Amino acid sequence: MTIQTVATTPFAGQRPGTSGLRKKVTEFQQPGYLENFVESIFLTLGAGKCRHLVVGGDGRYFNREAIQTILRMAAAHGVERVLVGRGGIMSTPAVSCVIRKHACYGGIVLSASHNPGGIDGDFGIKYNTENGGPAPEKITDAIYEHTKTLSEYHISDAAPVDLDQLGTTRIENMTIEVIDPVLDYAELMKRLFDFDAIRALFASGFRMRFDAMHAVSGPYAKAVLEGILGAPAGTVVNGEPQEDFGGGHPDPNPVNAAELIAAMAGPDAPDFGAASDGDGDRNMIVGRGIAVTPSDSLAIIAANATVAPGYKGGITGIARSMPTSTAADRVAQALGISCFETPTGWKYFGNLMDANLATLCGEESYGTGSFHIREKDGLWAVLFWLNLLAVRKLSVEQIVREHWARFGRNYYSRHDYEAVDATAANAMMDALRERLPELAGQTLDGHHVSQADDFAYNDPVDGSTSTRQGIRIVMSDGSRIVLRLSGTGTEGATVRLYLERYEADSTRHDLDTQEALSGLAQVAENVSGLRRRTGRSEPTVVT
Ligand code: G1P
Ligand code: ZN
Repeated sequence: MTIQTVATTPFAGQRPGTSGLRKKVTEFQQPGYLENFVESIFLTLGAGKCRHLVVGGDGRYFNREAIQTILRMAAAHGVERVLVGRGGIMSTPAVSCVIRKHACYGGIVLSASHNPGGIDGDFGIKYNTENGGPAPEKITDAIYEHTKTLSEYHISDAAPVDLDQLGTTRIENMTIEVIDPVLDYAELMKRLFDFDAIRALFASGFRMRFDAMHAVSGPYAKAVLEGILGAPAGTVVNGEPQEDFGGGHPDPNPVNAAELIAAMAGPDAPDFGAASDGDGDRNMIVGRGIAVTPSDSLAIIAANATVAPGYKGGITGIARSMPTSTAADRVAQALGISCFETPTGWKYFGNLMDANLATLCGEESYGTGSFHIREKDGLWAVLFWLNLLAVRKLSVEQIVREHWARFGRNYYSRHDYEAVDATAANAMMDALRERLPELAGQTLDGHHVSQADDFAYNDPVDGSTSTRQGIRIVMSDGSRIVLRLSGTGTEGATVRLYLERYEADSTRHDLDTQEALSGLAQVAENVSGLRRRTGRSEPTVVT
């Protein structure tokens, strides 16, 4: 075994996006592509700094190969010990949990989250810091700077490591511990939730369907729900992680998890349905005949936080990404706590949780989580709902309706225009940005604009500023139109249009969501020319 120095040249475009570097598998397979990025991570961390590391991925195509490369490079950069999930598997929330529990310097997560996998799909890599959360911008920017000037990388020529046997091996002076990827995570969940109450709920005949979408949460959900909590076998469906996620799109929303939505609408529907994404950090909550929006789920969890033992002392604050509906803000106001509005991406929540300013965080994109780790956490949200259902003894629909009756309903929808021409998308955003100063004060189709800006965030903890985080047009009745370009897409540009309308009157809580928002959608089109400029007659996906 020796450490090799390999000459390389930079690849363009290795700038990490909303959540790490995401590209087509074929791009990652180019010789040196992954190596350059990993070398840049180690150069950013600094020689000898990174002594203990966690490495795991969602099991998608190229996961195993990438892990072998990363291990050989870690050994070449003086890492002393690496914890790897068996089979190279570890959900994103579990990586965060393991980094924190074992006081590691950081972790490398291999995933493109909800993006499709397989040889024609996407792959991704991101670095998490010692708090267990995604690296902040100053680190991802530094990594990117290194990728632009790299001339060599360092790698051991050791043979591949057996990732399928628990136990310890070595490469050079580095110890590799292959660990059970579920154990530490399950133990943490036990401490947060009332497992006895949930066990009693299942024992009483309560039926659930958890759709793991052939992705990484399968083993976690099986171990926790069917194993520890005694849910009947078969509660978890599509529970074996596959390299191409069974050819599906592992994004838990009503469009991609249509099978679950159909099962929950049927005459013999289970009491509770849930799904999670490729790497296990997203969740969708479904009741009989009702899908809970992620924004509502965050608000409902916040309003009921004290039912779960891990939160019985109350919550200090809530944080939501800017496009997420303002339902949580109303709960925060009622509880007399702060609600922070951050840019899109979980990394912005890290400082707030570290400073104990926010206990619960959420994004409209099916991401919910808390300060127990520094990633969003799909199974955590599902367990929270189970705990809530076990304590309140109401149906999902009853809980949601009760919440709306108390706080009002925020009709909410996201319209995605995927893989549009990037030049047209940028021109649309630029033109709209220029019009913002004149929009405030105008009345658009009966909607009075009270605020129109490009969202900028000042982190209250470290003082850093992030600008151009999405255009928002806020109406005087609280309705909002938000437009931003995706930072995770891998083809052309993806435009996201977010629509929100608040309705206090409970006699008007039964409208169809798209109908309730159609007026705002028209205003959005009129001011942005989104469809006209991108040549699309309708969104690719509506959630
Ligand atoms: C999307 C979601 C965002 C989430 C991210 C990573 O990013 O919108 O909320 O944090 O995936 O899961 P986007 O493609 O919008 O940049
Ligand atoms: Zn994910």
